[in-house]
Amino acid sequence: MTNLRIPGPTPLPKEVLRAISRQVINHRGHEYEEMQARVTKNLQYFFQTKNDIFLLTSSGMGGLEAAISNFFSPGDTLVFFTCGEFGNRWAEIAKRFGGNMIHIKAQVGEVVKVEKVEEVIHKYKKIAGVFFTHNETATGVLNKLDQLIPLVKQHQSKPLILVDSISALGAVDLPMDKLGIDVLVTASQKAWMAPPGIAMIAVSQKAWGYQRRAKMPHYYFDLAMYKEFAEKHQTPATCAVSTIFGLDASLQIMKKDGRENIFKRHILLMRQLREGIRNIETYTDKPVHRLELFVDDRDASPAVTSIKIPEGIDGKEWLTILREKYHIELAGGMGETKGKIIRVAHMGYVAKNDIDQVLSAINSSLSVLKTRKKIKV
Ligand SMILES: Cc1ncc(COP(=O)(O)O)c(C=O)c1O
Repeated sequence: MTNLRIPGPTPLPKEVLRAISRQVINHRGHEYEEMQARVTKNLQYFFQTKNDIFLLTSSGMGGLEAAISNFFSPGDTLVFFTCGEFGNRWAEIAKRFGGNMIHIKAQVGEVVKVEKVEEVIHKYKKIAGVFFTHNETATGVLNKLDQLIPLVKQHQSKPLILVDSISALGAVDLPMDKLGIDVLVTASQKAWMAPPGIAMIAVSQKAWGYQRRAKMPHYYFDLAMYKEFAEKHQTPATCAVSTIFGLDASLQIMKKDGRENIFKRHILLMRQLREGIRNIETYTDKPVHRLELFVDDRDASPAVTSIKIPEGIDGKEWLTILREKYHIELAGGMGETKGKIIRVAHMGYVAKNDIDQVLSAINSSLSVLKTRKKIKV
């Protein structure tokens, strides 16, 4: 069986597989309502919030769209601090909805810098929303939101703070209430060990104030409608019941593990992988003969790690060998990192043994590439 180590969808534990294979139930019935109430409560534990959380039937992007269209009006000044492809896509949504865009891009492979946030926050007098990507999956950096968010909170116009933690929440500590995040988005197929199909969005009291005034159009993702239905633990339209079965089962496993243990485990897996990669020899004619990581240790993500493709190696061929010969499925780069890196996900259902397998396969695959004489020796 393939060891699926792409950054979502991620593998499912057997309890989750069992849960999603059961017969569907009435999404307006009592059993469903009990499940939604339980899932929401368990999510609040991981989001570390007392705020409302809604289950949207969509992938993560739907959650990101809802986070824009529900809270703002065309012409509102929206500040995006991005450091890769996923941040850029979120900014693109806001642009299409008519936001007055201030888009600040960090160097690819780096995090958003404190100084940059300070500079921008001081420059613009009226800001309606400030947007951060917690974990930029396209490069494998984790933004230090505990340093960035307090700077935004000093701003005179008290903008909303919105965070995409689609690929980190559930694996990385992000206390929503303590940090003062207003809108927080994640998706079922990442660290939550559930199938794709559900975006989760948490909304603060302050954000509801914005919601009432917002003029951007929304219908399917109208969160006021979600709030109304959530009173009876339902969703406005037919929800992805089977995915929620899976999410319910995974959250129960995660709750038993406890969030602190899960966060620690992800940090250990990240370290194991990074150390292992640094010890693997490549076969190039460069003075440095070991594989290199794309991101500095201080910015590295506990959920996804990027490895530089050594000069002379065809990244596509490398990934094919890993998949076909070693049954390890990894991802390539995206946007600016396309052809430059390969990415290993280590979020959700992953153990030390999986990382051992990845390291061993990467090591052996380089020998295969060498014997194929595709790279210079
Ligand atoms: C940080 C981030 N944002 C947004 C998305 C888009 O999510 P989806 O593919 O579920 O729509 C992803 C998916 O990988 C992501 O990692």
